[in-house]
Amino acid sequence: MIRSVFKKKASNPILKRCANDDHTRLRKRYELWYHILEDQRGTRVTMDGKEMVMLASNEYLGLYDHPKVVEAGQKALAKWGAGTMGARSANGGRSFHTDLEERLANFLGKEACHVSSAGYLSCMSSITGFAQRGDIVLVDKNMHSSVWDGIRLSMADVERFSHNNPDHLRSLLEELDPSASKIIAIEGVYSMEGHIGKLPEILDIAHQYECFTVMDDAHGIGVLGKQGRGTANHFGLTDRVDIIAGSLSKSLGSTGGFVAGDEAAIEYLRTRSKQVIFSAALSPCQAACAMAALDVIESEPEWLERLWSNTRRYKALLDELGLDTWESETPAIPIIIGNREKAYYFWKNLCDKGVFTIFATAPGVPPGKDLVRTAVSARHTDADFEIIETALRYAASKI
Ligand SMILES: Cc1ncc(COP(=O)(O)O)c(C=O)c1O
Repeated sequence: MIRSVFKKKASNPILKRCANDDHTRLRKRYELWYHILEDQRGTRVTMDGKEMVMLASNEYLGLYDHPKVVEAGQKALAKWGAGTMGARSANGGRSFHTDLEERLANFLGKEACHVSSAGYLSCMSSITGFAQRGDIVLVDKNMHSSVWDGIRLSMADVERFSHNNPDHLRSLLEELDPSASKIIAIEGVYSMEGHIGKLPEILDIAHQYECFTVMDDAHGIGVLGKQGRGTANHFGLTDRVDIIAGSLSKSLGSTGGFVAGDEAAIEYLRTRSKQVIFSAALSPCQAACAMAALDVIESEPEWLERLWSNTRRYKALLDELGLDTWESETPAIPIIIGNREKAYYFWKNLCDKGVFTIFATAPGVPPGKDLVRTAVSARHTDADFEIIETALRYAASKI
């Protein structure tokens, strides 16, 4: 049996740090995260034997258990086995990788693409693959941690601009050394806030100051643009974004990540990024499921339509209840409570009434923005909405 770190007598400073960490102790005591679900089917999950409505998945189109996606995964597993047993740079490359990359590049409107076994790796590599010491990365301060990690590893200098604020970005650029190479890093759809990145304004600035642009569109793919081709497509600006990175674990219902751009840029990434060079390649099953999800997205437009009609329905309910949704414009919808304790009880009341959401507090969100993160799926039904509405009314009445 594994002994609890809290009971073990710590024998060195790091073990003492682990044993005495207040954040870990609080997390364990209030059981806020790391929940274990015993079952999942469509929008329903089972936790501690109780069926709940999942209202926090990033799987916006609900394709993770689509029959065509499941069948493709099963076939790939039968044909190729479970793993790739190596990195793409060594013995891990397979024809299903290049098939998926070609398909994704096409879908996104880019020349080339590289897939990895996690979105986190891909988004990190979208910076480490291009930035180097002496460069400057200008980054939205609410950017996902994968990109922040990429910036730190790249050894480039960093300038953060206020969230989704092109004026602040411009004012920073006015002060910087014009001879330094610069990268602007933004998200297409900000995952916590649900805001759409101000791409047109930011790309104009990037053009004026000759900056390379990296957009993490993990939450825009499958959600925005024609057939869910993402934020760049939504604005008709695909050609002007240098790099589109993202995840296969959101609307594509699988696991893994991608970086797409010009062929020269993607080949350079393959030469330079350690996350690409030294990590085992995407598994056959993950690749096949993502490929099948792309087929479904292109052949069954009803999922995208349902996603947006469900989003409108859900937003109307939250507005009617007077809840603050941080001006979310997408199916990723936070409910801002603004106080850690109240946000905890709001989350817990939803949980008790059978709705699974995610509690988020500082430092994960800005101070005063303690929130419950929710996300709508194309798969939510009338029956789901009844449960969601009852739970939200109850939780809102207790704030
Ligand atoms: C904006 C953003 N980028 C990158 C990632 C990492 O993707 P993955 O979970 O597939 O590793 C996430 C996942 O939460 C994300 O929200």
